[in-house]
Amino acid sequence: MGQAICWMDDELLPLHAARVPVLDHGLLYGDGVFEGIRFYGGEPLLLAEHLRRLRDSARAIALDLLWNSDELERIVRDTVAASGLDDGYLRLLVTRGDGALGIDPRSCVRPRLIVIADRLQLLDPAVRHQGARLIIAATRRLPADGLDPRIKSLNYLNHILARIEANRAGADEAVLLNAQGRVTEGSADNLFIVRDGQVWTPPVSDGALAGITRGLLFELAGEAGIGIAERSLTAFDLYSADECFLSGTAAELIPVRSIDDRAMASCPGPVFERLDAAFHARVEQLRAQGRSRSAH
Ligand SMILES: Cc1ncc(COP(=O)(O)O)c(C=O)c1O
Repeated sequence: MGQAICWMDDELLPLHAARVPVLDHGLLYGDGVFEGIRFYGGEPLLLAEHLRRLRDSARAIALDLLWNSDELERIVRDTVAASGLDDGYLRLLVTRGDGALGIDPRSCVRPRLIVIADRLQLLDPAVRHQGARLIIAATRRLPADGLDPRIKSLNYLNHILARIEANRAGADEAVLLNAQGRVTEGSADNLFIVRDGQVWTPPVSDGALAGITRGLLFELAGEAGIGIAERSLTAFDLYSADECFLSGTAAELIPVRSIDDRAMASCPGPVFERLDAAFHARVEQLRAQGRSRSAH
């Protein structure tokens, strides 16, 4: 039940009928920002956190968000309701809008907001159960003085190049290092390792996106009494870890089976299993909230 739908320019349309003009600078130059948000039982997970990050990204690229947080929340909830979907994925995009062919953003008169609600193409269940095979990509993450990793921009080309490397190697995901050879993250997910029961993840200052799921894991680990902290990591730390896993809105939590063909000591490991259970318990709470909201 339900259908993929798109809110754009004050209109709700079936997804495949929605069209962006060719002069939109989001298309011409990747000039814009975005968020990916899951909803469970019709209820968006951590919506306020996602809207905050969207606003921060927009401010960082000097893009005026014409919609305040209440308006964005209303549009998001209307789009989810109109889709009729119970569980799904939302994509919010704000582009610089339509302008001239040249790069100068001053030709763009009004930002364009696009909200898509769709079913999620679920990850191959075999990968979720047996774990993902990773490679460390030759493609490096852009340095922060080129593009701050906290900006969730519409320009993912170096992540795509890293993913192409993974595809060619027959792996499931690529890890990007920064220019100094420190681990940053996967092409669309944050990375964690476990050593002696302690969880480590690269700091945002090494080039990781401040993932919303990553933030939730800090909270869930804290509640479960699992040590978790940021630490700069190298390829050696990944190869020699007890466990490794990925987190992201689309991916949720995925255990890692191998990195550059070195098998992890355990997959899925015991710390991963505890965090995964805590994550799914949080999702069930949200679904119950969604059910009670729609019953009233
Ligand atoms: C580059 C990158 N890193 C990490 C993540 C995970 O972030 P979140 O948990 O907010 O989805 C994403 C998700 O879009 C991403 O694109």
